[in-house]
Amino acid sequence: MTHDRVAGPGRIRPRRLRRSALLRDLVAETRLDVARLIMPHFVLPAEGGEEPIPSMPGIARLGVADLVRRIEADRKLGIRAVLLFGLPEEGAKDAAGTSSADPRGAVPRAVRAVKRAMGADVLVITDVCLCAYTDHGHCGLLAGEEVDNDRTLGALAAMALGHAEAGADLVAPSDMMDGRVAAIRDGLDAAGMTGVGILSYAVKYASAYYGPFRDAAESAPRHGDRQGYQMDPRNAVEAVREALLDAAEGADMLMVKPALAYLDVIRRVRDATRLPLAAYNVSGEYAAVKAAAANGWLDEARIVRENLIAISRAGADVIITYHARDALGGKWL
Ligand code: PBG
Ligand code: ZN
Repeated sequence: MTHDRVAGPGRIRPRRLRRSALLRDLVAETRLDVARLIMPHFVLPAEGGEEPIPSMPGIARLGVADLVRRIEADRKLGIRAVLLFGLPEEGAKDAAGTSSADPRGAVPRAVRAVKRAMGADVLVITDVCLCAYTDHGHCGLLAGEEVDNDRTLGALAAMALGHAEAGADLVAPSDMMDGRVAAIRDGLDAAGMTGVGILSYAVKYASAYYGPFRDAAESAPRHGDRQGYQMDPRNAVEAVREALLDAAEGADMLMVKPALAYLDVIRRVRDATRLPLAAYNVSGEYAAVKAAAANGWLDEARIVRENLIAISRAGADVIITYHARDALGGKWL
């Protein structure tokens, strides 16, 4: 039955709906919405300062006052949500990552300043993990060479509580310890912070795509790697297990990370849970696009739009992306 009157071409022609921009927009299945984008920032433990990150063109570590100005400018472009990563004071790293819970640390200071300046006009989400604060660079406390899961939970809960008390809307644990969502939820609730939500990095892979981030946050492990706690890229069924566990522990939103190499995982998790799902378009994915665009090898605007559509089509409700400012400033979406 090739090309007869029933099977077409003839009566049935999908191309009819592609003939004009208005028709294509009318029937588009996926739409990018600025309300669903989150812009990440790196915060210095200082009032002022701007340190460009060579492997992430267009992104800089910012002092608190500079961060507030940047977030205000981005708000005018439409960016309503930020994810904050902190750096400790020079020389403050130790084995236990003590400075992660300092209420005068970069993140609590930044949260207070952003909320003082903008209040409910911006959503402030904070990354909760020890790796930028430990001298060994691992995401938890060590027992010998290994990360001690259960001893780490208290430190994570204390860090999250500090962010919540400073005014964070959501805390986002990225450490991949078992049971951390429950520990953080219990810590917040015991302190009366029942309204502060948890966006869990539920499905976080041990990925080479985090390379530029580790330069930015100075958080690379000094020995070994993160394969003992982050997920194996070969696994997708396990992603559903992780997602369901975090939902059961009280997560309000889930995340899959990275995004582009894990679109199948985004789809699986989307279909397995009822919680809103975020995907993190990570530093290495950003750096690869920027490098190719700088060489004239790719059309940056079109690539970014296509990548964000792919992440959205895979099932992400929310996208965390370093491209947010360029995409909105350049009207790429
Ligand atoms: C810290 C953390 C990492 C990222 C987010 N939180 C790095 C890591 O786990 O090594 C990666 C973000 C990015 O690459 O953009 N645990
Ligand atoms: Zn970490």
